[in-house]
Amino acid sequence: MAALGSAGRLFLFARSSIGLTLRRRSTAAALAQNAPPESQENRKPKTGILMLNMGGPEKLEDVHDFLLRLFMDTDLMKLPVQNKLGPFIAKRRTPKIQEQYSKIGGGSPIKHWTSMQGEGMVKLLDETSPNTAPHKFYIGFRYVNPLTEEAIEEMEKDGVERAVAFTQYPQYSCSTTGSSLNAIYRYYRNRGERPKMRWSVIDRWPTHPLLVECFAEHIRNELLKFPEDKREDVVILFSAHSLPMAVVNRGDPYPQEVGATVQRVMERLGHCNPYRLVWQSRVGPMAWLGPQTDEVIKGLSERGKKNLLLVPIAFTSDHIETLHELDIEYAQVLAEECGVENIRRAESLNGNPLFMKALADLVQSHLRSNESCSRQLTLRCPLCTNPTCGETKAFFANQKLP
Ligand code: FES
Repeated sequence: MAALGSAGRLFLFARSSIGLTLRRRSTAAALAQNAPPESQENRKPKTGILMLNMGGPEKLEDVHDFLLRLFMDTDLMKLPVQNKLGPFIAKRRTPKIQEQYSKIGGGSPIKHWTSMQGEGMVKLLDETSPNTAPHKFYIGFRYVNPLTEEAIEEMEKDGVERAVAFTQYPQYSCSTTGSSLNAIYRYYRNRGERPKMRWSVIDRWPTHPLLVECFAEHIRNELLKFPEDKREDVVILFSAHSLPMAVVNRGDPYPQEVGATVQRVMERLGHCNPYRLVWQSRVGPMAWLGPQTDEVIKGLSERGKKNLLLVPIAFTSDHIETLHELDIEYAQVLAEECGVENIRRAESLNGNPLFMKALADLVQSHLRSNESCSRQLTLRCPLCTNPTCGETKAFFANQKLP
C-alpha cells in the first residue's frame, strides 16, 4: 500500500510538466511543432547547453511512455519489483491521464517554453560571450522526447567542446535535478565511454538576482490588478510543489532553497504585503511537507483574509500545477467555496525576455567561473541510500575544465 501511495504521489509530482488549460491550448499546440530554430542548425557549436527538465507529453499517444519512464525512474521513487509494478501502474493510469489531457487540449506546453527560452538565451550568449560562441541549446527531458540521452548523443555528434548541464529547476531536489544528473552519468557509464566534451553543471540558482527580479515584476503586475482599496490587504502565497517528508527528512535541499527564493523576492518587493510559503500537489495518506496550499486558502478565508495572490515559485514555465491546480482547482472552485473575494495568480516566467537574460547570465557567469559544479552538489543527502548519487557527483566534480 505504501508503495502504491508513493507511486501515486510521485505521479502527481510528474504532472507538473504536463498541464495546460484550454484557454492557452491553441497557442501551445501551434507552437509545439518545435523544430530547432534555423539559427542553430547549420553551425558547429563550441558550447552546448543542455536544458534539463522532466518534460511532459506533447500528444495523447505519448502519455503511456511518459508514465512508464516515470514509474521506472528509481531516482524518483523506489517501488517493490519496480520492473513489474512500474509498467502495471503506468498502463493502468494511461486512459485516465489521456482523458485529462484531452480535456485540456491534448499536450504539454513545456517544450514550447523551453525552446523559446533556450533560443533567447543562446542569442544573448552569442552577443555577450563571443569567446565561448557559437552556443547551442539542447533539451534533455527525463520522461519524454527529446530524452536526455538523445540530447547527449546529439551533442557528442555535433562535436560540442564544452557542455553545460543546466537544470531548469531553480531550486535543487534529488527528485528532479538529481535524477537528470544521474541520467547523464549513467549514459556514459552504460556505454563504458568517457565524454569527449568537457562537462560542468549549473545545478541550482534559487537566488539569482534576475530570477528574483522576474518574480518580483510578475507579482507587482498582478497586485495592481486587485481593487485599490484591497491591495494592501492581499496575502501573497508562494506555492511550490510539495515533497514527501521521507525525501525531506533524508536531507533534500529543496525546501530550504525554495525558502531562499521567497526571502529574496520579498526583500526585492520591500515586504509590501504579508506572505507565506505554501506547498501544493500532495496526494495520498503519507506525510508531505506543508502547509498545503488549498488548506491555507481555506484557513485564511475563515480568518477574514479574502484577497489572495498565488505565486508559483518553483517552476519557471506553465504546467498543470499552475494552469489547472492553481487556476482552476484553487482560484476558481475552492475560492468560490470559501467565499474568497479576490484571488489572482502571478504569471509564470514563460517568455519574459528578462528571464531569458537571467538564463544567459547564469551560463555566462558559470563559464567564466570555470567551476564544474556548485559546492553544494558535492554533498550527498546525509541519509541518501542511492549509490548512483555519489558516483554522479564524482563524475561532475572530476571533469577537467580548461
Ligand atoms: Fe540526495 Fe542521493 S538522495 S544525494
